[in-house]
Amino acid sequence: MVLVKKRIDEVDDRLYVETNKSHKITDVSPAFYKEFNINEGELIGKSIYTIVSRHTNFGKNKVIFGKLFGYSCLLRMKNLEDKKIYHILLSEQNIDYIELISFINSIEAKKYKKKSIKQNRYSFDDIIGQSPAIQRVKELASKIATNNSTVLLTGESGTGKELFAQAIHELSTRKNQSFIAVNCVAIPDELFESELFGYEAGAFSGAKQEGKPGKIELAQNGTLFLDEISELSYQSQGKLLRVLQEREVERLGGTTSKKVDIRIIAATNRDLKTLVENGKFRQDLYYRLYVFDLQIPPLRVRKEDILPLTYSFIEFYNNKFDKEVTYIDSGLEDWLLTYEWPGNIRELKACIERGMNIVDNDTLTLKNLYLPSNNKSSMPVSLMQENMEFLSLHAAVENAEISIIKQALDDANGDRTIAAQKLKISVASLYRKISKYKLK
Ligand SMILES: Nc1ncnc2c1ncn2[C@@H]1O[C@H](COP(=O)(O)OP(=O)(O)OP(=O)(O)O)[C@@H](O)[C@H]1O
Ligand SMILES: [Mg+2]
Repeated sequence: MVLVKKRIDEVDDRLYVETNKSHKITDVSPAFYKEFNINEGELIGKSIYTIVSRHTNFGKNKVIFGKLFGYSCLLRMKNLEDKKIYHILLSEQNIDYIELISFINSIEAKKYKKKSIKQNRYSFDDIIGQSPAIQRVKELASKIATNNSTVLLTGESGTGKELFAQAIHELSTRKNQSFIAVNCVAIPDELFESELFGYEAGAFSGAKQEGKPGKIELAQNGTLFLDEISELSYQSQGKLLRVLQEREVERLGGTTSKKVDIRIIAATNRDLKTLVENGKFRQDLYYRLYVFDLQIPPLRVRKEDILPLTYSFIEFYNNKFDKEVTYIDSGLEDWLLTYEWPGNIRELKACIERGMNIVDNDTLTLKNLYLPSNNKSSMPVSLMQENMEFLSLHAAVENAEISIIKQALDDANGDRTIAAQKLKISVASLYRKISKYKLK
């Protein structure tokens, strides 16, 4: 048996792969080539994902479980400014899964400890946004919070699905019971049953003496939040469905089953219906989950929320970094309002955090955000399409024209003569452009 935990602390310095920011391998240690019996130089330039298959992240991307040339591996990734270093912690033909479970648990235990110190889960009051779009969702969510129905939260990455899940739980009669979150991406198929159903003492060699309750049992009388549900394998979906149907769970190696009383909230950023049509997601499970489909709109369709969110994040980081930022300058405001936020609120929050680290007076500016010009995703998306492809030059020029005309009109308080002067064009041609772009 392999002692995972012990080995975690004993990084073998000789076994590593380095990649650049775009995951291309730039350096491989000689010992690595030897360990896996490959020719030197063979891996340079390839993507890390061509050698690490089926990887699952634990915690904050730090420890990765994957398959490397047929070996089960644990890798630890170090994120440096310009590169990533993957150290092999462990490579075995057969990793002992029970150990892996307890390893994951030890990481998660730490995570939960942090949470429980905070003690406060999010509530509806924490969901910022006055736009009709978000108000509608909040209203619907608060209505269904109090009954026990299953809720499916859909929305792009970073739109606040987990926030809503917690808020729904907090408003329900179950609020004094546990809220157990399960990230379905982080559960390899082999671990699904032991993680969700738990196991009895001696269920398999290496099982913990006293057995271990599964997430479902831990969520008893409370809420089970199944995050990224689309990522469960077909097989695991079937196992989950059975529990939801029978409302009973039996630990691995157990002989009796227990009644389950849990409220399910599932979340996904993919279109489950399409996955069902493509045979990737079980239709029967889909209908079990699709009782209330709560769609959280992306930030770009509720631009009214951008500034209130920005100010709340500024307040948050003021406290955290002990700063006193009160204003944002107009350049930043314009950019915040024109950018399309593909990563939604999470991206906005990260963006403000970056600026708050750098700002040294009371006004946050565009410059503080430090947007590397070669980073496509940080470009104002008026130059990019939704799918992050470049717009045609013609369309990009038009977008730039619209934006500068709007700004000039704003600056001139709507006076077209002054705006035309600022833009150094004739009033007639400003009128033409205003009508061409249907500006007000
Ligand atoms: N309306 C909101 N008001 C305040 N903070 C928000 C709001 N929506 C999201 N956030 C914050 O944005 C971040 C991302 O939210 P959350 O983790 O809930 O998104 P998610 O939809 O679960 O994303 P993913 O699909 O990537 O898991 C969190 O820090 C959350 O607190
Ligand atoms: Mg989430």
